[in-house]
Amino acid sequence: METTAINAKPFLRWAGGKKWFIKYLNDFLPVKFNNYHEIFLGSASAFFNIPAKSYKAAYLSDVNEDLINAFVQIKENIAGLIKILNEFKNTEAYYYKIRNQHDHSDPVFRAARLIFMNKTGYNGIYRVNSLGRFNVPYGHRENVDFVSEMNLLEVNKKLANANISNIDFEEAIAKVRKGDLVFIDPPYTVAHENNGFIEYNKKLFSLDDQIRLSKAIQKIISKGAYYLLTNAKHEKILEIYSHLQRPKILERHSHIGGNGAKRENIKEYIFTNCIK
Ligand SMILES: C[S@@+](CC[C@H](N)C(=O)[O-])C[C@H]1O[C@@H](n2cnc3c(N)ncnc32)[C@H](O)[C@@H]1O
Repeated sequence: METTAINAKPFLRWAGGKKWFIKYLNDFLPVKFNNYHEIFLGSASAFFNIPAKSYKAAYLSDVNEDLINAFVQIKENIAGLIKILNEFKNTEAYYYKIRNQHDHSDPVFRAARLIFMNKTGYNGIYRVNSLGRFNVPYGHRENVDFVSEMNLLEVNKKLANANISNIDFEEAIAKVRKGDLVFIDPPYTVAHENNGFIEYNKKLFSLDDQIRLSKAIQKIISKGAYYLLTNAKHEKILEIYSHLQRPKILERHSHIGGNGAKRENIKEYIFTNCIK
């Protein structure tokens, strides 16, 4: 596949982000495809690493409303968004003042709020309480450039031919056509190599959702489109996706934080029908 300089970078830090996968991405992409779909968008690390000239249009979606609103505002209201961000201050008191504005009605303000809290909050995680209210504490990252104006302007250009939707993956897959490529990075339901659970959102991505996804991938295949699915290496996952071609296994380093922090090697599955 032809490569060009990639300027726009992810503007959010996101749990389960696929930054580690980027060095392998080209090995898995089909030589040629029509539209590009990313249906569990998060920070969109894969999308930002696929040159715009390799696809006709991009279809980007996620069920997280705040996240999708941020992409939409960068696309449609970039000047207003940057103006609001430039008015924010990176202090503890100001952070909590902004964090308390849960119900602000202006979508541009809400996008600025998410970007600001994501960059200045603790560990860059998106976490909400049972009422759906962002509850991450202040991160004391006083020197961080939370506006990143140059990058936001590049992201705005990159989104020019993107359709952005706040929808469930099944609805997103309904838009896939023959020859399209779908990048699929669901929340990991099972922890790697054991039976623990990992939570990203208010609603956990359950084993039933994984089964629903495996059926939806069958639809992608029937349409004559390509899929690229990442998932935790786990027996249960192999069982649920047993109708797909056997996965490749990739290994990556992971830093497990907290007391007794350690580095671990983690194995991931890559399922795909992209044949070079
Ligand atoms: C592992 S993250 C994606 C990370 C992304 N690839 C990146 O590089 O940042 C999974 C995403 O799936 C989204 N999600 C969870 N359930 C979903 C559903 N039913 N349909 C669509 N998106 C969903 C979450 O909001 C989350 O952003």
